[in-house]
Amino acid sequence: MDSTSREAIITPPFEPMLVSPIWEVIPHETGQRIPSIDDNLVIVGGNETNWSDIRKQYPHARVLPIHSGNTVEEIIRELRQHAPIDHILWIAPEEHNSSITDDAIIEGQEAGVIYLFKIIKSLLALGYDSRPIGWTVITIQAQPIHKYDEVNPTHASIHGLMGTLAKEYSHWKIRVIDLESAATWPMPELFTLPSHEEGNAYVYREQQWHHQELVPVRYNKQDETLYKNGGVYVVIGGAGGIGEVWSEYVIRMYEAKVIWIGRREKDANIQAKIDRLASIGPTPSYIVADATDQEELYRAYEEIKQQYGHIHGIVHSAIVLLDKSLANMDEERFRAGLRVKVDVSVNIAEVFEQEPLDFVLFFSSMNSFVKAAGQSNYVAGCTFKDAFASQLALEWPCAVKVMNWGYWGTVGTVASEEYQRRMHNRGVGSIEPPEAMEALEALLIGPMNQLAFAKMTSSSAWVNVNRRKCITIYQ
Ligand SMILES: NC(=O)c1ccc[n+]([C@@H]2O[C@H](COP(=O)([O-])OP(=O)(O)OC[C@H]3O[C@@H](n4cnc5c(N)ncnc54)[C@H](OP(=O)(O)O)[C@@H]3O)[C@@H](O)[C@H]2O)c1
Repeated sequence: MDSTSREAIITPPFEPMLVSPIWEVIPHETGQRIPSIDDNLVIVGGNETNWSDIRKQYPHARVLPIHSGNTVEEIIRELRQHAPIDHILWIAPEEHNSSITDDAIIEGQEAGVIYLFKIIKSLLALGYDSRPIGWTVITIQAQPIHKYDEVNPTHASIHGLMGTLAKEYSHWKIRVIDLESAATWPMPELFTLPSHEEGNAYVYREQQWHHQELVPVRYNKQDETLYKNGGVYVVIGGAGGIGEVWSEYVIRMYEAKVIWIGRREKDANIQAKIDRLASIGPTPSYIVADATDQEELYRAYEEIKQQYGHIHGIVHSAIVLLDKSLANMDEERFRAGLRVKVDVSVNIAEVFEQEPLDFVLFFSSMNSFVKAAGQSNYVAGCTFKDAFASQLALEWPCAVKVMNWGYWGTVGTVASEEYQRRMHNRGVGSIEPPEAMEALEALLIGPMNQLAFAKMTSSSAWVNVNRRKCITIYQ
């Protein structure tokens, strides 16, 4: 047997897979009550009504006198007073901001995911990493379960953080719940829901519990497209790997005028990318701006308007990948990974609100569902981005779409050989540009607002896909 045929046998076939996240109703099976009545249950957040409802179930439950403005040191002091804690019931503030273009969504992270991050760091500092502890984390109307489900996405980032926490501390029992705004809390059901080993959420709507599944999607190739010939497209993070691939596609196919926004000054590497694409069609422009800074993004917008007159589409393709386990992640690092997703998404909505756009396209990640260990900041950013886009789609007249990419092994931020090997071992192959661009065309023109695309072996356990179900999109 020569080496080529040997390789052909051991290399698993990677199948391109387009999937859709859907939320299915699940029966509520009354399981063991967690925490038990004698456990030391502490409550963080919530209001008098919540506390009195909870105390009907747990008369000994104590409300911790801490708040989101506390430092880790202050939280540690308070947690120490209540040790040993068996279960933390953490309740996110209920947000009522009226618009998706509200800075309160950015500021709200302080009392949400950042506050939780500080509590986790405090528990780790107190040695809870070596003992089991239970969590019930409640958000209100933060996770949409279908495209007409109105949410306030502020605290959707929490779902990402708790998912990675579940992977990093598998002996901590984690239950994440998204309740319905203005509905009575389902007591005592709330405390008999099993914890979820992946840290995935249960969503309560119209008195039913839902959980998320990924289901394969089939579609017929369409003749229509949402791209315009000569369209003007702004790509935040366009000089990065996937931004460049996307730009090449729209320049080659639609003679698009592409404007890249990035923080770096234009260097030789960026110039080489521009030169390469200029040999195919209209030369991309490059504007230096940090899109987490609303004023800088606004300045870029005005420059584009002056030069091009109109804008047809926006792509959010920015990422700051700063992986670390929660034990080794400091607050600044967590914030940096989060900000590029949260702040940039909100700033896009604020700055481009008045533009008659054809589409806004958010590049998110399969990690919204995998919620991998070591990536809490990124995953929190991605679950936020998905929920934010869902709400933006309800409020804006143009198409607002999310593509949750699987792994790109040849371009982009994780295109190293080491990463490729790691993903290969998990049964994950590299997405290649033609298949990815075809999937995007289907997403943009199709009826669904969110799809995920990955290359995987059929036996890969990287992400759970329910292959017994299938969604077919007809033309
Ligand atoms: N690569 C993958 O396998 C993969 C998988 C799933 C999802 N995704 C998603 O796909 C998108 C693109 O990923 P990629 O792999 O192409 O990443 P990349 O090569 O690292 O490109 C990201 C770009 O974002 C820019 N950027 C970062 N922060 C910014 C800010 N504040 N303002 C403006 N620009 C900023 C960076 O340029 P400066 O540093 O100069 O600002 C960089 O050019 C991301 O949204 C990512 O989450 C990628």
